Amino acid sequence: MSDPALIPDQRHLFDLPEDVAYLNCAYMAPSLKSVTQAGMAGVTLKARPWDVTAPDFFEPADRARSLFARLINATADDIAIIPSASYGLATAGRNLPLSTGQTVVTLAEQFPSNVYVWRQATADAGAEVIAVEKRQDGWTDPVLDAITDRTAVVAIPHCHWTDGALVDLDAVRTRTREVGAALVIDACQSLGALPFDVTRYDPDFIAAPCYKWLLGPYSMGFLYVAPRHHDGKPLEQTWTAREKSEDFARLVNYASGFQPGARRFDMGERAQFHLLPMATAALEQLLDWGIERIAATLLEKTRRLTRDAATLGFAAEPESRRAGHYLGLTRDAPLPDDLLTKLAAANAYVSVRGSAIRVTPHLYTSDADMERFLTALEVALGATR
Ligand SMILES: Cc1ncc(COP(=O)(O)O)c(C=O)c1O
Repeated sequence: MSDPALIPDQRHLFDLPEDVAYLNCAYMAPSLKSVTQAGMAGVTLKARPWDVTAPDFFEPADRARSLFARLINATADDIAIIPSASYGLATAGRNLPLSTGQTVVTLAEQFPSNVYVWRQATADAGAEVIAVEKRQDGWTDPVLDAITDRTAVVAIPHCHWTDGALVDLDAVRTRTREVGAALVIDACQSLGALPFDVTRYDPDFIAAPCYKWLLGPYSMGFLYVAPRHHDGKPLEQTWTAREKSEDFARLVNYASGFQPGARRFDMGERAQFHLLPMATAALEQLLDWGIERIAATLLEKTRRLTRDAATLGFAAEPESRRAGHYLGLTRDAPLPDDLLTKLAAANAYVSVRGSAIRVTPHLYTSDADMERFLTALEVALGATR
């Protein structure tokens, strides 16, 4: 009997041809049909600007904020609307001042959006980035060891973008509290597929663009800002973030105050008439499925992929140390340069990151997709299962 907690195949909700095995959600999610429709309605609205009213600049943003807040057990007031992870992480950098001699702890080879901002901030302050190397038993211990009295910020993902290896955020948060360091999370490869509760980890900032596991559009994302930073400095001085900006007739009565909560950190022109409804449609669907159930279902899929890839000589992080939705398959022999081209010729799509084949299914991934990928891999490597 099938496990009632697991979500059955949801391919019918996406626009995926039957013969395409798209195991690359960590690159970019295919759009839900509901998301595409919401975007088209937004494009159509902009074509008829006489139908665009003042509330259209505020209400869709607040609806998206509320939904994202539900996903992480925060409140709408804690959420800013941003165009990219880089933007959100730059906001974190601007609001977590560093002094000479302090450190920012990161993971080695973490995604550049969560690296350049800290390189710049530490260079400006005479501080230092410490990029910890992974050890045999994972990331957590090296991160804990690198956190000292000098540490001002720990800026890490929940799981590494190359292979899904997890960081134990409970342990890291306990240690950062001991030394008074801030916790900044790049949740691009985790939120939407890995449960997260801000009341458990009390991070300072979390940045997440919509276009991967949040199943939403490109060029839109969310920034969680802990209430203790709500009076911080935004990157931009956008007019919609100012108090009373709803009153278009009086915008030149310039305001010194801001809209409440984290809204001051919103990007300029955040009332994206097509992107916000797309993000909203995706969040509604994710909340409807439930993140726990998504995580459990994707773990089943990556479990099967791990088992079958093992017969081709591939290994993955042990299940206890990887995010369930994420696989980095490695083997002793190097990967052929033309591997992705050969897989794509068989309509099987994955990524190569570092020395790992990154395999990231979603609820549209069928058994036939997994079989297509594994067969294509077998053929491309000249191996047999
Ligand atoms: C871990 C991680 N962070 C961030 C991003 C994207 O960053 P941005 O939204 O700044 O383009 C990616 C894209 O692959 C990623 O894997």
